[in-house]
Amino acid sequence: MATSGVTTETGRKPATQEKLAVCGGPQACKVKFPTWPIYGREEEEALARVVRSGTWGRLSGKEVERFEQRFAEYQGAKYGIAVVNGSVSLRIALMGIGIEAGDEVIVPPYTFLATATAVVEANAVPVFADIDPETFNLDPAAVEAAITPRTKAIIPVHVGGLAADVDALMAIAKRHNLFVIEDAAHAHGAEYKGRRVGALGHAGSFSFQASKNLTSGEGGIILTNDEELAERCRSIHNCGRLKGGAWYEHVVMGGNYRLSEFQGAVLNCQFDRLDAQATARDRNGAYLAARLEKIPGLHPQPRRFTGTRHAYHLFAMRYEAAAFGVPRQAFLKALNAEGVFAVAGYIVPLYAQPLFTQKNFGPYTGYRLSRPDLDYAKMICPNCERICREEGIWLVQNELLGTQQEMDQIAGAFSKLYDKRGDLQKFARQEQGSGA
Ligand SMILES: Cc1ncc(COP(=O)(O)O)c(C=O)c1O
Repeated sequence: MATSGVTTETGRKPATQEKLAVCGGPQACKVKFPTWPIYGREEEEALARVVRSGTWGRLSGKEVERFEQRFAEYQGAKYGIAVVNGSVSLRIALMGIGIEAGDEVIVPPYTFLATATAVVEANAVPVFADIDPETFNLDPAAVEAAITPRTKAIIPVHVGGLAADVDALMAIAKRHNLFVIEDAAHAHGAEYKGRRVGALGHAGSFSFQASKNLTSGEGGIILTNDEELAERCRSIHNCGRLKGGAWYEHVVMGGNYRLSEFQGAVLNCQFDRLDAQATARDRNGAYLAARLEKIPGLHPQPRRFTGTRHAYHLFAMRYEAAAFGVPRQAFLKALNAEGVFAVAGYIVPLYAQPLFTQKNFGPYTGYRLSRPDLDYAKMICPNCERICREEGIWLVQNELLGTQQEMDQIAGAFSKLYDKRGDLQKFARQEQGSGA
């Protein structure tokens, strides 16, 4: 039963006097979040249209081409080259800028595997620089400190859909003659100082994998404003053929990385839904962040710049265990029981994966040319370590597609856990005792 007129020590009304859900009480959040992807007759009809057309491949179809133009324009880029996924798009962009064996590329350790393996697959060396402890994005000062004479590029990730500090990174890139390739896999529709991300650097890469805010199951795209770079990437994704060249004339190193017309058709339909969804996520995310910031120990990613539009592929925040008196894992268990889906996300820095600590890079031995000394097993990026191992918490994008009242229910679950932290601590002790 809710109590009225009483406030807690933090000045908020207690969420509820009821038991925590992990202790058998009712859930604070009863929202039925939409499943993902959201689709309708449009997708079904578009797919049937492609089937019946008999034009299933990108080379003779119009769906992928149309999508490339629409998405590039939406993100503020002149050129778009759709490819099979958002891992390959990074590698093609690296090949497009002319990466060579042994070149170094600075990447964050707080990211999905592909940000760094794309570098390895280009036979270059991923060099990790630490993240900002609040935004979870690459820290420009750490980037500058990691530059060597072999550094060729920087790949900032717009973590969760919050733009990295692109101006600061571009200034560093300019000083050291480097390329910037944005990994915008989480950032469809995101804005940095009022400008859409993706072509703010020399090139950008997006993913359309199943969980992403714009999806065709799998897929990716490279964006750029540089015509020559666009043509190089287009050749690489089309078996190394040149624009206007013959079918059996292969000029540059490339492969078949083209998207099918089925995926193009689905993307065109999903794209029609994107802006309204992005607007809803940005509005709901900002509202939820404002509510959660009032609870001690919760620190959603801050918006440092005016003109930020957060794409909220993830609603990421920092959790301070001291404020609740329980470690992250117990908190997440209790939060999930209250009806809010939340996860710890990247639980170790990327450089700590055996792939890197053992340098299991297969045939890609380019690192031996320039950085045989690099020992990922000894690497420590303190901010990333703390976020991964103790503090990071993510909610996911489809939880932000509802109403403000639904955001209140999510916030209510967090408040309940704070207000009843004594019970939460008892629960955590029991869990520890039972070895769970
Ligand atoms: C930050 C980041 N970069 C790149 C990728 C790779 O995209 P894909 O799964 O389409 O290959 C992902 C996918 O999760 C990602 O999260």
